Amino acid sequence: MQSRRGKGLPGGNDWWKRAVFYQIYPRSFMDSNGDGIGDLPGIISKLDYLNDGTPGSLGIDAIWFSPFYPSPDRDFGYDVADYCDIDPRYGTLADFDRLVEECHRRNIRVMLDLVVNHTSSEHPWFKESRSSRDNPKRDWYIWRDGRGPKNKPPNNWRNNFYGPAWTWDEQTGQYYLHSFLKDQPDLNWANPEVRQAIFKVIRFWLERGADGFRLDVAHHYYKDEQLRDNPPFYKREKRTGGMASRDRTLEINLYYTLGLPEFQVKKYNQHHPETHRILKEFRKILDQYPGSTSVGEVIGDSPETVAAYYGSGTDELHMNFYFDLMHCRWRAGAFRRCVELWEKTLPPEAWPAYTFSNHDVMRAISRYDRGGRGDARARLLALMLLTLRGTPFIYYGEEIGMKDPKFPRHLLQDPVGLKWYPFHRGRDGARTPMQWNDGHAGGFTSGRPWLPVGPELEKRNVATQEKDSASLLNFYKKLIWLRKEQSALQEGSYRSLTGAANPEEVFVYLRELAESKLAVALNFTTRPRPVNLAPEFTAARLLLSTDPSRGAEDTGAQLVLGPEEGVLLEVEPA
Ligand code: NOJ
Repeated sequence: MQSRRGKGLPGGNDWWKRAVFYQIYPRSFMDSNGDGIGDLPGIISKLDYLNDGTPGSLGIDAIWFSPFYPSPDRDFGYDVADYCDIDPRYGTLADFDRLVEECHRRNIRVMLDLVVNHTSSEHPWFKESRSSRDNPKRDWYIWRDGRGPKNKPPNNWRNNFYGPAWTWDEQTGQYYLHSFLKDQPDLNWANPEVRQAIFKVIRFWLERGADGFRLDVAHHYYKDEQLRDNPPFYKREKRTGGMASRDRTLEINLYYTLGLPEFQVKKYNQHHPETHRILKEFRKILDQYPGSTSVGEVIGDSPETVAAYYGSGTDELHMNFYFDLMHCRWRAGAFRRCVELWEKTLPPEAWPAYTFSNHDVMRAISRYDRGGRGDARARLLALMLLTLRGTPFIYYGEEIGMKDPKFPRHLLQDPVGLKWYPFHRGRDGARTPMQWNDGHAGGFTSGRPWLPVGPELEKRNVATQEKDSASLLNFYKKLIWLRKEQSALQEGSYRSLTGAANPEEVFVYLRELAESKLAVALNFTTRPRPVNLAPEFTAARLLLSTDPSRGAEDTGAQLVLGPEEGVLLEVEPA
């Protein structure tokens, strides 16, 4: 087949460093046939909204698509039953080809979700593997005998959702390993045939036009060969740095209050050195397709652990999310320290990637919505996301301030929510249909949407916000198009201006590229706060404020920010 790769797209092979990414959860973006589930033709019909080449559109440069491969949807696409096809509910391979073509026509790159720690239990590989002990694919998954007279699971590993990581298979009388649901058996990456099969999948999509991959739980691939027991949670080794994360706090609380056994140090089932060798092989393949890229979903206890997935900086993943940024308390200092710790930890050529929301966590606007401050805070976060040094990832609907509804149990679909309710309502809240207008189902479908739309549809929708120059959507558009004009925002260095002149409550930083100097000041307090750029700078011109009532103005080197206001300034050295 002739390669459809994005040859001729602007930006060079390292386009991804300057790009703005947008995550689409295909099930919820746009439904073209009224079955209540989003699909590829639906996405294609909305590409002009994402980028039609003019500042009237959002202006994003790349889309990461959550999985749209055939799947029994036990984990909504993260249980893949065929790596080289499209689920019929989403469309066909021909639709995919059209998607690539239409994206590339608009200079939008296509990133696919590579979910290869595990397959679905419905994948033909697993069906073969479980059919008999001597099936040639038996060793493609991790099978073991039970332990002791009671036939206990081979070790104490727990899966990441709930319960043991092992399920007993009656037919062949052995346990198989699954780091997530029992319907998501882990592939055996120690088997060279598995590696080759996955590398073939990667080439298949690259040849077909994909520009790269987001790697699902890349830290989980390789497992301890002796399958040693994980130590209990409280025996966590001293951390080498990092921020206290919300997850960790949740772990501690659940462990001590409920005595749940889920929480253990995942010492032997993640971050194995051999995983890095696999990723180096993966990178070599990508390097044969110039202009392709990758971003890892890697979760680790310390920034060092996550940064290690960049390898030397150029020989493993191109980018890795740094999720600690999602868990910062609403304090300028918390965000600043987090960013700077990450900057300090990364190997020299490594490039950061940032995001505040995705399909696994409560949307940032809802997370930080204390006292109804969510909307103001969403603007501040947008300004930070699009001006930090690194590649920003926007989650669909974030640009119109979509919020998580609080679903009652009978509406939940996510297995995590169904299991942990009411302690945790799962991830459905962040996966509601995109809100295109204030009509039926937010204009997402003519049928019954698979999940109800989120709250306050009348103001949180594209059509309404397009008409309002002060809307969050129009703020995002201005910001993204401004970013394209200012190479200092795309490639410039980062330097904190927090210090004696600017106390910790305001996050002030400089982005610098040759003569071009831009300052960003973010007031995280609910009171007016001064910003002082003197004596280093004498003059400043306001390019954009989160406060729509502020026009372009020459502010001078000293200005006062309103409550939770953020500004982007062009500054002149003294
Ligand atoms: C991480 C994905 O983001 C999440 O949605 C999924 O449930 C797990 N990996 C398992 O694939």
